[in-house]
Amino acid sequence: MEETQNSQFDIIILGASGFTGKYVVKEALKFQNSPSSPLKTLALAGRNRTKLTETLQWAAHPSLPPPSIAIITADTTDLPSLHRLCGQAKVILNCVGPFRLLGEPVVAACANSGCDYLDICGEPEFMERMEAKYHEKAVETGSLVISACGFDSVPAELGLMFNSRQWIAQAVPNQVEAYLSLESEKRIVGNFGTYESAVLGVANAKKLLELRRSRPKRARPVIPGPPPKGPTLEHQKKIGLWAVKLPSADSVVVRRTLSILTENPHGLPGVNESPEQIENREAFWSTVKPAYFGVKIGTKSLFGIFRIITVGMLMGLFSGFSLGRWLLLKFPSVFSLGWFKKKGPSEDEVKSASFKMWFVGHGFSDSSLASQGNVKPDLEIITRVMGPEIGYLTTPIILVQCALILLSQRDNLPKGGVFPPGIVFGPTDLQQRLQENGISFDVVSKSALKA
Ligand SMILES: NC(=O)c1ccc[n+]([C@@H]2O[C@H](COP(=O)([O-])OP(=O)(O)OC[C@H]3O[C@@H](n4cnc5c(N)ncnc54)[C@H](OP(=O)(O)O)[C@@H]3O)[C@@H](O)[C@H]2O)c1
Repeated sequence: MEETQNSQFDIIILGASGFTGKYVVKEALKFQNSPSSPLKTLALAGRNRTKLTETLQWAAHPSLPPPSIAIITADTTDLPSLHRLCGQAKVILNCVGPFRLLGEPVVAACANSGCDYLDICGEPEFMERMEAKYHEKAVETGSLVISACGFDSVPAELGLMFNSRQWIAQAVPNQVEAYLSLESEKRIVGNFGTYESAVLGVANAKKLLELRRSRPKRARPVIPGPPPKGPTLEHQKKIGLWAVKLPSADSVVVRRTLSILTENPHGLPGVNESPEQIENREAFWSTVKPAYFGVKIGTKSLFGIFRIITVGMLMGLFSGFSLGRWLLLKFPSVFSLGWFKKKGPSEDEVKSASFKMWFVGHGFSDSSLASQGNVKPDLEIITRVMGPEIGYLTTPIILVQCALILLSQRDNLPKGGVFPPGIVFGPTDLQQRLQENGISFDVVSKSALKA
């Protein structure tokens, strides 16, 4: 392994030494150099060579010598180091967070240089700020900048599309509510980076509102029927969960995709699409029917839901002022009632965990019903996305598959710009790739609703 100056890498993983970054390295190594994989050259980047070398050793095989993969020193506070990275990579996978604090220089370097960029951010304010600041530059240079290519927010984006595509012929959805259930045979602690981002995200909600007020309004999709009203806390009997509204990045990201789709009803043209590909893309988007979308977190017991509400209230209360944020980040275990710890879960705990995300869609068996005032939805379609632990297994699977699509199908994707993942990857084979790698998509039921 040596410091590399001029070679060209298919992928550079930045922040490879982090809790999530090292699982991304492990996942990427599975695809390097297999005959059919477009990933031939990989490099790890970060600020500490020793940690990166240890990461490679861990990710490759603890008892074997690490593969010969380049290690590049780069720091998000050292702009020349980021420009060097962009000059060497086709795609940068950014695992350095919190993105609100550390992400912008990486996006700027990619947008200015034309290098493609994917990250695992779950911070809506960061994503929308990057779009406002760098979209035009990225279009000009041909840099594709896509945030939220992890558990936040690909299962929600593809899961909503999967549900909405089950409404065939005249049937139309009005609302799709996602219910997230995190399961584990062992007690598992969550990803600290995600907790940290959530703490900063709550504090950043005001900034997001200011940003939205300062820019032109986005197009709203036309959805049949009135916006649904529902309780904040509910018992969803069909799926056996108590659930409460979750202010997650997912709904914001999905709304961005639906807005872009409204502005571009055939989706985003690829930089060099074949006529057949244009037909496939347009056919795909013609089957996606927009719906009001929200996310709830669910548990089997009422006690569990009160625990979630308590943590949410503590975070809401304390994240509004700097001493409160300091306390939340200093004592994560106390404020999250044991769900998050700085040192993260063990490998066994990670293996024992999984998620289920149910998409409960309510709508009309015939779109003409929706326009008849006061008529209630008469059809319910439930679909489900399931997969392994969210932060360290599902997120790397998604990020790496998105990167492989960029490497193998670049002609079919937009030349450049800052986009949410759904509008770019929706018409690709991402869902199929996720299914082949342990994340499933199923139709659970289709049933008539009583009037
Ligand atoms: N979308 C999702 O579902 C999802 C899932 C998991 C994680 N995440 C997000 O991913 C981010 C990382 O989480 P994590 O748990 O992996 O955090 P972490 O363990 O703290 O890792 C952070 C990484 O960033 C590196 N880093 C920090 N400052 C840097 C700088 N100035 N320049 C270059 N590298 C720097 C660290 O390098 P050192 O080793 O040198 O400290 C480390 O490699 C968080 O924002 C988290 O919210 C999202």
